[in-house]
Amino acid sequence: MTAQIIDGKAIAEQVRAEWKERADALKARGITPGMAVIIVGDDPASKVYVANKVKACAQLGLYSIHVELPADTSEAGLLAEVEKLNNDPAIHGILVQLPLPKHLDSHKVIEAINPDKDVDGFHEKNVGALVTGETPFPSCTPYGVMVMLEKTGIAIEGKHAVVVGRSNIVGKPMALLLLHKNATVTICTSKTVDLAKHTRDADILVAAVGRANFIKGDMVKPGAVVIDVGINRNAEGKLCGDVDFASVKEVAGYLTPVPGGVGPMTITMLVANTVRAAERLSVQA
Ligand code: GUN
Repeated sequence: MTAQIIDGKAIAEQVRAEWKERADALKARGITPGMAVIIVGDDPASKVYVANKVKACAQLGLYSIHVELPADTSEAGLLAEVEKLNNDPAIHGILVQLPLPKHLDSHKVIEAINPDKDVDGFHEKNVGALVTGETPFPSCTPYGVMVMLEKTGIAIEGKHAVVVGRSNIVGKPMALLLLHKNATVTICTSKTVDLAKHTRDADILVAAVGRANFIKGDMVKPGAVVIDVGINRNAEGKLCGDVDFASVKEVAGYLTPVPGGVGPMTITMLVANTVRAAERLSVQA
């Protein structure tokens, strides 16, 4: 079998067009959705991600600002920036790019963001809403995966979904979103004993461990849907996912590439969450 490759870029374009309509409807009422990204320090990968986020906002006609703070910014200084944005009526979505430099407590910073502007969906209020029901702001990467599955016509209900990775950004919210769609969900980590036994049982396999080419073809059930969330560099410096594309594409039914798979969806859902934040705040105002 050769897997059908899911074109994240094409799906992202389609979804962006849908959200542009909602953004335009707000603009017709005099509200331009606005997003602020705060980046602390000069991690090159984070800078690329942030530039792409700002670019996507501009593409959809959103207002965006990009706050660059030096690596030695104090916690009080960063919290003051967050508070300024919490109180800025032109800003509907606030994102603090992670990871933060080690001297800063990311949990404290996330909790300082107004939950109604938490377009990353990382605030405890929104995480709690995700656990108990529906959050207004599903975190962008797992949200993008769900939309990608839906647009590809992949049924989730009753399927066995295996998520490899337990991060707050991807693994845990991914498992919950799949559970809400009535999948049977298993969460594994890179340390799970006999990991392949679990992954081979997956109808839908989501790899989010952060290790290059970690999931091999012999760990995948024939015909499974394989979603690769990883963004890694291999020994030659080439961008690659958590899934060994060459061997898995011979076994899987569907497979997302890296780049051009989940990445464009993540950024799209950030724009979507920002538009939704503006819609909600405009009702509250
Ligand atoms: N760093 C890597 N992914 C993310 C993300 O989705 N949001 C934020 N804020 N930082 C990240």
